[in-house]
Amino acid sequence: MSSPTIPSTTETERLERLWSGDFGNAYVERNREAARPREPFWRSLLTEFPVASVLEAGCNLGANLTWVAEKVPPHQVFGIDINRKALVELRRLLPEVNAVWGPIRDLPFRDRWFDLTFTMGVLIHQPESTLPLVMSEIVRCSRRYVLCGEYFAEQTAEVPYRNQTGALFKRNYGRLYQELFPDLQLRRQGFLGRDQGWDDVTYWLFEKT
Ligand SMILES: C[S@@+](CC[C@H](N)C(=O)[O-])C[C@H]1O[C@@H](n2cnc3c(N)ncnc32)[C@H](O)[C@@H]1O
Repeated sequence: MSSPTIPSTTETERLERLWSGDFGNAYVERNREAARPREPFWRSLLTEFPVASVLEAGCNLGANLTWVAEKVPPHQVFGIDINRKALVELRRLLPEVNAVWGPIRDLPFRDRWFDLTFTMGVLIHQPESTLPLVMSEIVRCSRRYVLCGEYFAEQTAEVPYRNQTGALFKRNYGRLYQELFPDLQLRRQGFLGRDQGWDDVTYWLFEKT
């Protein structure tokens, strides 16, 4: 009898499966209260840089979109995620916001469809093999602004994450965006700590020129 074939899977598929399943469901449970302290950041950002349509890639249950939808008409606010439980919660919490299922390496939106596209704590979970594709999708769908809030390190460094290997990478995401897309101009950069509702996040807001 021949030995069973072990299915080969790419890192991308492995991480997408991780976030789609129990691991991702547990994240939803842990983050039910994440939204509240984030209001001042979003109010400040969207007051200085007003926009009329927004996409969050990796939106989970809406800890960011809750505040985005206060400043932008909710029917012009979209979130995409690979975890179905997160999207069920997002639809329950923010029924007028558009909750879309899918992997963010293949965004189902037209070029330049949104004024602002962004990730917060999502590029850190992308493997090297798909990171440039994910970033290019986020840039492609934006007409004007691209925001990225992620864990920073000058050189790429893997960080152990909840008993998983190859699941979280600190990188210089701002530099990576500018290297890949030289037309992006930095408009605002900052740091978001626990008081602001994030876990030591560095953010960069770029404008397409
Ligand atoms: C650490 S959470 C961040 C959630 C949210 N951005 C926030 O700031 O609260 C990462 C989110 O990205 C989603 N995600 C991770 N990899 C993804 C992928 N390849 N495609 C779509 N969603 C993904 C996860 O399901 C999860 O909801």
